[in-house]
Amino acid sequence: MCGIVGYVGEQPALDVVLSGLRRLEYRGYDSAGVAVQTPEGDLAVAKKAGKLANLEALLAESPLAAGTVGIGHTRWATHGGPTDANAHPHVGGAGRVAVVHNGIIENFARLREELTEHGQVLLSETDTEVVAHLLAEAVDAQRAGGAELDLAEAMRAVCRQLEGAFTLVAEHADAPGVVVAARRNSPLVVGVGQGENFLASDVAAFIEHTREAIELGQDQVVELRRDGVTITDFHGKPGDFREYHVDWDASAAEKDGYDYFMLKEIAEQPKAVADTLLGRIGTDGRLTLDELRIDDQVLREIDKVVIVACGTAFHAGMIAKYAIEHWTRIPCEVEVASEFRYRDPILDAQTLVIAISQSGETMDTLMALRHAREQGAKVLAICNTNGSTIPRESDAVLYTHAGPEVAVASTKAFLTQLVACYLVALYLGQVRGTKWGDEIFEIIHQLADAPRQVEQVLETMEPVRELARSLADAKSVLFLGRHVGFPVALEGALKLKELAYMHAEGFAAGELKHGPIALIEEGLPVVVVVPSPRGRSVLHDKIVSNIQEIRARGAKTLVIAEEGDEAVVPYADHLVRIPQTPTLLQPLVATVPLQVFACELATAKGHEVDQPRNLAKSVTVE
Ligand code: F6R
Repeated sequence: MCGIVGYVGEQPALDVVLSGLRRLEYRGYDSAGVAVQTPEGDLAVAKKAGKLANLEALLAESPLAAGTVGIGHTRWATHGGPTDANAHPHVGGAGRVAVVHNGIIENFARLREELTEHGQVLLSETDTEVVAHLLAEAVDAQRAGGAELDLAEAMRAVCRQLEGAFTLVAEHADAPGVVVAARRNSPLVVGVGQGENFLASDVAAFIEHTREAIELGQDQVVELRRDGVTITDFHGKPGDFREYHVDWDASAAEKDGYDYFMLKEIAEQPKAVADTLLGRIGTDGRLTLDELRIDDQVLREIDKVVIVACGTAFHAGMIAKYAIEHWTRIPCEVEVASEFRYRDPILDAQTLVIAISQSGETMDTLMALRHAREQGAKVLAICNTNGSTIPRESDAVLYTHAGPEVAVASTKAFLTQLVACYLVALYLGQVRGTKWGDEIFEIIHQLADAPRQVEQVLETMEPVRELARSLADAKSVLFLGRHVGFPVALEGALKLKELAYMHAEGFAAGELKHGPIALIEEGLPVVVVVPSPRGRSVLHDKIVSNIQEIRARGAKTLVIAEEGDEAVVPYADHLVRIPQTPTLLQPLVATVPLQVFACELATAKGHEVDQPRNLAKSVTVE
């Protein structure tokens, strides 16, 4: 939430900062702003409500003075509406200090009162503006004490007064060539270049300039100069950090000829799934998850698994529960992370908590995992973002290798989360020796074939697109599923809500007669995810009955069923075929048509699918 960029180097800072913001706009698009140090020793600030394009139009009309040091921000509003005045950067010290912020400063009301008592005039409704004034006051205090201006020290002094979660990036007109930043519970990475250095919420912002990055620790302050980076804690002690190389290149964060990132990311799913499997399945069918830093003996002693995640990642967790319980016979709970810690869950050293997160920064998930670790549980992160907070604070991590996901609505990350969950479930089965027989070898064999199957689904999506376009005026769409088809139905509904802004709900098909069937009326589109008729045919038979029940009440049925399932044909107004696959793995192929459906329907309604209204990709506030 909120994208932040900082730059010190030789290139025109405005160009570098704007191109970074373009790549971070998925984090929020309520407003955007920049501040650049001018050759005259001032700060030039420009900011504008709305998308980055509005700021660019403003800059085209009134260009800023050139400079090689700058900061920028793209906002997802928390405190104060999306107005010009609330846009970042915020300035203090009569315009000599500029600050951008991601997070929430929880004690801002008290700080604001104190600043007002000192005679400061605050111009916005944001929590951020207090930091600009506090920083200016801290610099003034240094000078009054006869010390040299030390912006990093001033930032440390300010951070010691702040409560909440924040990434702050600031510059001062009287500290030429310096940008400072601080982080607590919010993302910030350093990009290390030749004669230039970068700060950003995400490496995507600087990947076209450098692939060398530094992952910062908690409660740290960074001072960025052209020729160096200094990292300390909030008290000035040298801070621990980790340097790493970003192994994807700038083109991974480009649209590559697609109209939207979402289309590109849907198309990338076969590769994302293949990359996530790569090196993890041996030729003998056994799994190697060397990167798991949890000892096999600890995994043998686990007596409960608890999965925490939000949104789409939560749906992956729901599917994982079916797989874990079936393959390992370990009881598994799954819960939305935002609810988890508030109900005082029962956890101990024998509990394995799995935190699933694409971004690795979701605050609800982070807080849930911290709570779990405080209770002595072991935490395994399933994450797509190297260097992010959730894997860093977990006991172990299994990375998904989806590559950067830019569209706000998650697609390829979801499929790779499923793959990672299956791998964890199978690995638990492997080390514990439970159910380790032919069924598992067959599953592993099928999992290895998943990239090909996903590709096959993608090749047959034109009728789904056509159908989606024909439903652009529908008021509502329902989604039904049973077993792992239930979370798939929830995911289909979530995609449609967030992209097409229409009423969409997912139900367990068996629950229909306990209430939701009252929603069925003539012509209502209902998507039904049908389990395989092979194996668990009871499930299949029951859902065929459910389809008949809704059809009898006038629903228009859009049926997703595997090849060869003839029993559904008489009851399907529209039939979408998916490849035959074991029931537990079916979500890998059944979700894809739902993603395509939502994306196409939203496009037909004229919506901007990469940046749906009110949303941001990385939700770093609770
Ligand atoms: C929906 C979507 C969100 C995220 C959720 C968790 O398309 O993308 O529901 O899945 O905000 O995000 P991560 O996985 O980054 O923790």
